Amino acid sequence: MNICVRYFSRGGNTKKVAEAIAEELGVEALDITNTVEGADVLFLGSSMYAFTVDKNIKKFVSELKSNNAKMIVNFSTSASDSSTHKKVNKCVKDPNIQFYKEHFSIPGEFLKMNKGRPNEQDLKAAKEFARKVIEEL
Ligand SMILES: Cc1cc2nc3c(=O)[nH]c(=O)nc-3n(C[C@H](O)[C@H](O)[C@H](O)COP(=O)(O)O)c2cc1C
Repeated sequence: MNICVRYFSRGGNTKKVAEAIAEELGVEALDITNTVEGADVLFLGSSMYAFTVDKNIKKFVSELKSNNAKMIVNFSTSASDSSTHKKVNKCVKDPNIQFYKEHFSIPGEFLKMNKGRPNEQDLKAAKEFARKVIEEL
């Protein structure tokens, strides 16, 4: 199974989660300036900024075709722990791309909120989530 991990992260929180997932799955976590080709599963990380996701993530997802990635597994960090799942799913244009049903979201440090998050426990949970997804597919 060809697994890829990509992320968009302004401040590094989502990058940390992406790196934990990638480590668990034995692949490299790269940002979305790195294209994806022939992935069976694409773990894709994003964050909430001003109640939405960054325009670069929207563009990246809307341009994906099923030959780039057959399935997207979304994960996210945000101050309010609200998932980007729905917003990212809405950007998928190719009907042949599957969007993994479950969302995985972790609180991310922002101003005085969620100090130190994602922390070790969060990263452990991210790894467990990734392992569970792969075992299930
Ligand atoms: C400019 C800006 C706007 C944000 N807006 C929101 C928001 O609307 N809702 C929310 O839950 N978190 C918001 N946050 C918090 C981020 O989602 C959170 O810190 C996240 O972990 C950042 O991920 P990153 O470090 O990978 O960029 C915002 C952060 C920034 C910097």
